[in-house]
Parts: sequence; structure tokens; C-alpha cells
Amino acid sequence: MSKRPKFHFTPIKNWMNDPNGLCYFNNKYHLFYQHNPQNLYWGNMTWGHAISENLFEWKHKEYALIPDREEDRDGCFSGSAFEKEGVLYLAYTGIIMTNKKINEYGNPVTVNDDDMISTQLFVKSYDGEKFEKLNLPKIVAPQGYCSAHFRDPKVWIKDGIYNMVLGAKKENKGRILIYQSLDFEKWELKSEIYKEDMGFMWECPDMFELEEKNILIFSPQGIGKQGQEHISGYYIGKMDYTKGTYDIETQFKMLDEGFEIYAPQTFKDNKNRRILISWIVNHHPFPSEEWSGMMTLPREIKLKDNKLMMYPITELEKYRKNMDDILFLENAIKLDTEFYDVEFEIISNEDFEISLGTLEDKGLYLKYLKEEDKFIFDREEVVNGFKSLEIFGTRREFLYKLREKTKFRIIRDRSVVEIYINDGEKVLTSLVNFREDQRFIKFSEEIENLQIYELSKSTN
Ligand code: FRU
Repeated sequence: MSKRPKFHFTPIKNWMNDPNGLCYFNNKYHLFYQHNPQNLYWGNMTWGHAISENLFEWKHKEYALIPDREEDRDGCFSGSAFEKEGVLYLAYTGIIMTNKKINEYGNPVTVNDDDMISTQLFVKSYDGEKFEKLNLPKIVAPQGYCSAHFRDPKVWIKDGIYNMVLGAKKENKGRILIYQSLDFEKWELKSEIYKEDMGFMWECPDMFELEEKNILIFSPQGIGKQGQEHISGYYIGKMDYTKGTYDIETQFKMLDEGFEIYAPQTFKDNKNRRILISWIVNHHPFPSEEWSGMMTLPREIKLKDNKLMMYPITELEKYRKNMDDILFLENAIKLDTEFYDVEFEIISNEDFEISLGTLEDKGLYLKYLKEEDKFIFDREEVVNGFKSLEIFGTRREFLYKLREKTKFRIIRDRSVVEIYINDGEKVLTSLVNFREDQRFIKFSEEIENLQIYELSKSTN
């Protein structure tokens, strides 16, 4: 039984991690991604490439970047895209491993975490098909910063000035560096974004504007509890472009209350939407699958009441089909498909539970505890022997205050479930390994406005 989703992007073959260089260029969406051409585990990083007209039907292309010069001889790490005068530019991190060994999966890795030299490099493309690596500029780690952990440039142009945020590490603490350039050739380090107790490395920063605020998304390493090492979140603040500094105005907030969201990236499309796509971490492939790693659904993000809201882009709704094959029971429905998109509302103000499993077990469930204003999200019963789900833990909890009605949207795309609460105020993403009989959705309370659709598509 295939585990490959149809609406969540997957590579044709082998390992994939972060989305890179997301953009809308030459009338097409471009998704680049960290890819190991050789096997199902991390290593030998190149940039895979796919294009699309609607972010759901993808055409796979040749590699955009492969290690082929001294500065990137051991890997082309994550980065971003920007457009200038009709030309597409990519910024990425070239890696040299100064001391390497072959790991258990046959991939070269560093002997010690710090055996690496990182350089920020640039690429130019006129058509989004052929990519020319540029000799300059080259940005190396400033004094005092660890050259091994200095990566993931996100570049954008504002009022003619080039801006870049970069993940960095200094004195064993994670930080983000802000660079600016007036002419693209000379880059100046302007400031550092730092907060106490936020881990040892901040990966994949992204900064963008919504409602006159500057949102900073990143993935800090080293603050999660066991099984929660991979988290991504954001600050809301204000960028001072004349000084090149950023003031944080909020606490760190989680982007997603589920299990595997890491290294998200955003871009603005031709409809002026800010769209986010994230890697859903899958450290081990599903047994007998020849690909590993998938992306989230493309989510439009908005800022409301000082919080980010995320919701699947409306193009997904074009794949909705009415379903005949539904079994309605008291407080449960059975859906004979692995691909569905279901919406409903719960009016209850008491404790309640929604579960995706059989009539007997709970499967993947979401439980609300009124006394504590808290949700529990649990997937113990959908591990079904697939250890990769255990690596990231099987339970999450988060605070949420119910209003008189709670709206849910649950999307299942075979081996992944995304749950949206109140139009994306909270989002929960989870890989799942459902058994064949785990096809019910159960509700402990009465529901209203139930809409059930199959998601139907002929290709992956
Ligand atoms: C995040 C990350 C990035 C790095 C890339 C390497 O998952 O570690 O910081 O550029 O993956 O594949």
C-alpha cells in the first residue's frame, strides 16, 4: 500500500528536506528543495527543482544546484530566491566539510559538528531553467561567529536595498544576522537578533511584512524537550531598514502545534498572497517507499490580533468532489477514502474529543479540556509499528480558549493529516500510519455544518 500523498509535494525518489528558493517567476511557481540524489537519508545536498501553475500539479525538473565548485564541494545547503529586473537570483550556502566520515547510510558527514566551512553564494537565472553560479559576492562568517553554522540566507529587496537574514551561532547560542547591501557586491553586517534561552542554532530564518509588521520565522535547535527537537516559530516585530536592526515585540510563538513542521519558507505570489510551505520531517522513510520527506500544503498566512493565521490556499478546493461512500453513524462517520477534506463546527463548551480511528480505538485524536483551556493532540494509536512517528513523540498539548463555536477542518492526504482550528488560528500537522480499518471520524459532542469532500487527483 502506497504511503505517498497526492497534495503534499514529495520528491520522485530519495531524501528531501527544506523548501528552498520558493518564488513565482516567469508565470510559474518554483519550488526548490534540499535533496539527496543518492539515497533515502540526509546527505550530498543538492537543490532539487519543480515547477507548477497552481502549487498542486508539479513538473519535476533537473537539479538546479549541485556541488561543483570548491566552496560548495560538500553540499549546496538551504537558501532563497529573489527577483531583480526580470532576473531570478538564488542565494544559498556552500559547504566544505573539513573532516568527514561515511555514516551508517553511506553518506558523507562531518566527524565533529564544527568541521565545516560555510559560504553564502549566489546564482543567476534568466529563464528559471538554467542556473549560473556567480563568482561574487561570497560571504564568509564574521569574526567570532562559528563558520560551521552560518547558513540559510533569505534575501529580499526593499526600496532598492538588498537585505539578508542568516542563521548563525556564536558562543554556542543561536542568532540571526542581518546584512545589507546597496550594490549586491559589498555586504555589510548590520546587526544581530538574539534572545536568551533560545537554543544553540537558529536555522532557516525568513523575514517578511504583514500589516506593517515584520514577521521573523525560524527554526531554533536545542530548545525542545525530548522528541520535540524540531520546532518552528516566529516573532512579530519591526525592522528598521535605515539602521538594519530588528526589534522583537512578542514572545516566541509556535507556527504549528503538530509534530513535524521544520524549516518553513514563505514567498509572495502574483496574487499578492504570502504563502508558506514547510518541510514535514520524516527521518526514516515509510517502509517500502522510495521517497522520504514531504512538504505541507501551501498555506496562505495572515496576521490577526498579533498572531499568524494559516489556511490552505483556495486552489485546493478545486479538487473537492462530493462523496457517495459515507457511512453515517451516531456521532461518527466512516469515509472509504484516504484523501478527504472535512469541515464541521462544535458548539460545546464542555470537554470534547475528535478522533480519527476505528469505533473502538482513538487513533489520532484531539481532546479539549475545558478546565485548563487546553487541547491534547495524540497519535500513539496510529504509529502502527512505524518508528519514525515515535522519534518526534506522540503527544502535544497547547493552550486555547474556546469561543461559543469552534470550527474544524481536517484534511487527510493518505499518510499525513492537517487540522485547522477556527480558520487557521491553530494548525496541527501530523504524519500518520493509519491501518486500513482506521477510517472513522468520531465526535464526542454534537456537530453542525458538516461538509465532507473527497480530494481527487489523478497524479501525485
Ligand atoms: C534545516 C537545515 C538547514 C541546512 C539544511 C541542510 O533542516 O539543517 O539549516 O541548510 O537543512 O540540508
